[in-house]
Amino acid sequence: MSLTIKPAEGAGAYIGGIDLSILSSQEAKQLLDALGQYGVLFFRQQSLSPESHIELAEKFGSININRFFTAVEGYPQIAQVLKEPDQKKNIGEQWHTDHSYDQVPALGSILVARELPQSGGDTIFVSMFAAYDALEDKIKKRIANLTAVHSSRHVFGADAQKEANQEGEAPRFKNAAAATQDAVHPVVIRHPISGKKGIYVNPDFTVRINDVSEEESEVLLSTLYDHCLNLAFRHQFSWQPGSVAFWDNRATWHQAINDYHGQRRLMHRITLEGEALFA
Ligand code: SIN
Repeated sequence: MSLTIKPAEGAGAYIGGIDLSILSSQEAKQLLDALGQYGVLFFRQQSLSPESHIELAEKFGSININRFFTAVEGYPQIAQVLKEPDQKKNIGEQWHTDHSYDQVPALGSILVARELPQSGGDTIFVSMFAAYDALEDKIKKRIANLTAVHSSRHVFGADAQKEANQEGEAPRFKNAAAATQDAVHPVVIRHPISGKKGIYVNPDFTVRINDVSEEESEVLLSTLYDHCLNLAFRHQFSWQPGSVAFWDNRATWHQAINDYHGQRRLMHRITLEGEALFA
């Protein structure tokens, strides 16, 4: 078997010719390079037990034990992303990039499909490389040296958790008292693997752009967000049994579509530690 890379329309690439349960260190290196180029990698027909999911993740670095998500029973390294048939809200419906509220944001996540609805439940990814490249020069210049504040407080703090954890249901999120992180990152970063430039603000966690008025911060952020949501930079991934997605938080946004009320969707997510980000 030899590894194949087929760029996806809009964002990411489909990887073939690989068995993630027995990944060699050479293949891991090829995948990491591809991640730096494409931002998100899609795999089909994989068979990963929770143990092999953990082994796979450890080939790319240390696992970040998520402080807010409920873990899969017996596997603290694996966060449970679950929507039950009687739940109306899902996890991850807002456009976001995970962990931008940390000073040293996570590299990315490996998401494995465990139980899927009959239809719906896709995930959309947006390429922050493609979005940056397509910006007008005058906007590139305007944001070149700016930084932004990101926060976890309004998403994982006590008020937000009260809303997300519905009464009578197993709680999705925990540890609200730990939602105290605020972090500052450049608005445009150089990707740590590929050196490509990408936009690094997102609608869920970015609170404001520094060193400009509140009003200008709002205008700049909404200009960037409108631009990033252009269909040309998006790829909608349809999950099948055996599907896996490996995304890089420094290169993509994602959104879990909440269009399968009355059905169960269960995903297992492992997040990898990252590094500080620079312009
Ligand atoms: C997430 O935002 O991490 C969840 C994505 C998904 O469930 O598709």
